[in-house]
Amino acid sequence: MHLPKVAAAAATLPWAAAVVTRQASTTVTVNLSRRYQTIDGFGFSEAFQRAYNIYNLAEPKRSQLIDLLFNTTSGAGFSIVRNGIGSSPNSSNDWMNTILPTGPSSPAAMSNASYVWDSKDSGQLWVSQQAVKYGVKTFYADAWSAPGFMKSNRKDSGGGFLCGVAGATCSSGDWRQAYADYLVKYIQFYQQSGVNVTHLGFLNEPDISTSYASMLSNGQQSADFIRVLYPTLQIANLSSVNIACCDATGWKIQATMTQGLKDAGVEDMIGIITSHTYTSGVSGTLPTSRKVWETECSDLSGGWSTAWYTNGAAGDGFTWANNIYTGLTSGNVSAYLWWVATQDKATNNNNNEKLILVDGGDYVVAKRFWAFAQYSRTIRPGATRVGISGGSNLKTTAFQNADGTVAVNVINSSTSAAVLSVAGVLKAASAKAWVTDASNDMTPIAVTVGADGSVSGVTVPGRGMVSFVISAAASSTYQN
Ligand SMILES: *[C@@H]1O[C@H](CO)[C@@H](O)[C@H](O)[C@H]1NC(C)=O
Ligand SMILES: *[C@@H]1O[C@H](CO)[C@@H](O)[C@H](O)[C@H]1NC(C)=O
Ligand SMILES: *[C@@H]1O[C@H](CO)[C@@H](O)[C@H](O)[C@H]1NC(C)=O
Ligand SMILES: *[C@@H]1O[C@H](CO)[C@@H](O)[C@H](O)[C@H]1NC(C)=O
Ligand SMILES: *[C@@H]1O[C@H](CO)[C@@H](O)[C@H](O)[C@H]1NC(C)=O
Ligand SMILES: *[C@@H]1O[C@H](CO)[C@@H](O)[C@H](O)[C@H]1NC(C)=O
Ligand SMILES: *[C@@H]1O[C@H](CO)[C@@H](O)[C@H](O)[C@H]1NC(C)=O
Ligand SMILES: *[C@@H]1O[C@H](CO)[C@@H](O)[C@H](O)[C@H]1NC(C)=O
Repeated sequence: MHLPKVAAAAATLPWAAAVVTRQASTTVTVNLSRRYQTIDGFGFSEAFQRAYNIYNLAEPKRSQLIDLLFNTTSGAGFSIVRNGIGSSPNSSNDWMNTILPTGPSSPAAMSNASYVWDSKDSGQLWVSQQAVKYGVKTFYADAWSAPGFMKSNRKDSGGGFLCGVAGATCSSGDWRQAYADYLVKYIQFYQQSGVNVTHLGFLNEPDISTSYASMLSNGQQSADFIRVLYPTLQIANLSSVNIACCDATGWKIQATMTQGLKDAGVEDMIGIITSHTYTSGVSGTLPTSRKVWETECSDLSGGWSTAWYTNGAAGDGFTWANNIYTGLTSGNVSAYLWWVATQDKATNNNNNEKLILVDGGDYVVAKRFWAFAQYSRTIRPGATRVGISGGSNLKTTAFQNADGTVAVNVINSSTSAAVLSVAGVLKAASAKAWVTDASNDMTPIAVTVGADGSVSGVTVPGRGMVSFVISAAASSTYQN
């Protein structure tokens, strides 16, 4: 798959040389002066009891799977975990149990609330603690709903509204402060267990009503709660926790909700605007100055497939390499999260919503996982997206990591390969590259680093992806 190195003469520094095409050689040019959004990372959830798929695996498989998810050398190096904050009376099926199983009779009685911490949190605490060991620092805790006793429909499933927001007047009173206190309590339980929640959401897909936990909200109603949640976090010394809103089912609905939050005057209280991509995919930026995260996506309808490329199917690894590219570029996202990392065969008719099938004491990894790894392992939290241009039929992104290294990701949309050079970055001291395609999973490949600091000689297979991490020579300065 990998052509031999090309002559170092292909070097095209200085960067202003832009695109140089000689025979089958292509140059992409990085512009470190052109700076875009900051990246928080890439991640997944193990909500809905999915965490137990990992927890219940016998060793050594269990450790291998954790390593695959979080190791930055051999795994995907995922840097964000999204946990579901439970609201249900029990933990069967897709329900996640609440930390307040017996609701007080009124909001005023919350001061006597009997919280119950089971130190499991539907298996998510253990997965989070493993992530901490690998250096993961970003934990997004997201409630699908408030507990039923705080809601207009008196149960945590089947939609309903949080009592006290616009249009939801309940005889039991205004439960907004109670819900804010509840979410703070959850964060404190995690803190005591060695995991710092950094981002907090209070809704999941608030535009639909479901048989699992769900709570409806529009932008105005979300703002009504954020005005209570924000000061509650401050008073609890949790001002560093970023409020997230609103995990709508798709980009278009989230755009409307985001406008609603702005119109209500709470944009400044929000840390991140969050959206899923089920009912509509990433179609440009959302109307906000806040960071934007894509917080859930998957292929819900396809049957289990590990393929890299079939025909552009919704479950193909190559499709997701392209989707992540679109999120990072057109969508201006700072994070890109898949839905569940693991699932067994029996659940949801063995569909394609998981990255890894865990069944019968073993696991199988889909190529979608390696599409994420291409980005997640090379673009680390704190990286800034920078300019890159050049090459036809290529989808390229570049990032300057916090440690100064430069990540370059190249998807070749054509069906055959060519040799690539990267120019304009800096005088490279060293460079690494990894390829993923039908027969490779982040396979390390040789890169030519010339005496002049040029980077060249890498083949990007047709319908394949290569990511680089380039380190500067100690004495060199950035070119731009
Ligand atoms: C690099 O980006 C800067 C800032 O956007 C821009 O002024 C400059 O023209 C770019 N250089 C090239 C070669 O495109
Ligand atoms: C990650 O994997 C590498 C290579 O297998 C190994 O040396 C390293 O110890 C692993 N890191 C952690 C934190 O386990
Ligand atoms: C578990 O909680 C859900 C959600 O409230 C409820 O519909 C279901 O009946 C409960 N199951 C059991 C066994 O209690
Ligand atoms: C809390 O519990 C104490 C002791 O049972 C009781 O005296 C008090 O009235 C309760 N407070 C509220 C607000 O219900
Ligand atoms: C969590 O935050 C506390 C207080 O800011 C800090 O002391 C602790 O080291 C953090 N824990 C982790 C695992 O990052
Ligand atoms: C918040 O921190 C301040 C200063 O350290 C302390 O006095 C206060 O008790 C803390 N409040 C809470 C709710 O922990
Ligand atoms: C991209 O997101 C950043 C925040 O991460 C924001 O400051 C910037 O305005 C956004 N750019 C566009 C074009 O929306
Ligand atoms: C991608 O594949 C096409 C073949 O259709 C080739 O022309 C092109 O040079 C390749 N690009 C890279 C950078 O490998």
